[in-house]
Amino acid sequence: MTHTEDALHQIIYISRLTDPDEALVTKILQKALQHNPRNHITGMMLCADGDVMQVLEGPKDRITALFEKISARVPVRPPK
Ligand SMILES: Cc1cc2nc3c(=O)[nH]c(=O)nc-3n(C[C@H](O)[C@H](O)[C@H](O)COP(=O)(O)O)c2cc1C
Repeated sequence: MTHTEDALHQIIYISRLTDPDEALVTKILQKALQHNPRNHITGMMLCADGDVMQVLEGPKDRITALFEKISARVPVRPPK
């Protein structure tokens, strides 16, 4: 049985980029590819017309810390 501390956690959020362009999305992807494996974080990201949906999976403390960083930069809103 997996210890709770080691359990895989998941955060799914939707956000709207206030000033979306391809360069910004490329930059975000570069950060994710660079940092996420190091922090044992996996997931996926969908971008469409300035909306982002991202799935973050990994240890609870790591994905929480990352989500706090992300949400400090973009408004995160509940899905319609
Ligand atoms: C929509 C969005 C998604 C992001 N996703 C990730 C991510 O998965 N991994 C990551 O390391 N940074 C991601 N970032 C970038 C972080 O907000 C942050 O800039 C990055 O982690 C670098 O943090 P640092 O300046 O403390 O090194 C994302 C940013 C935005 C706006």
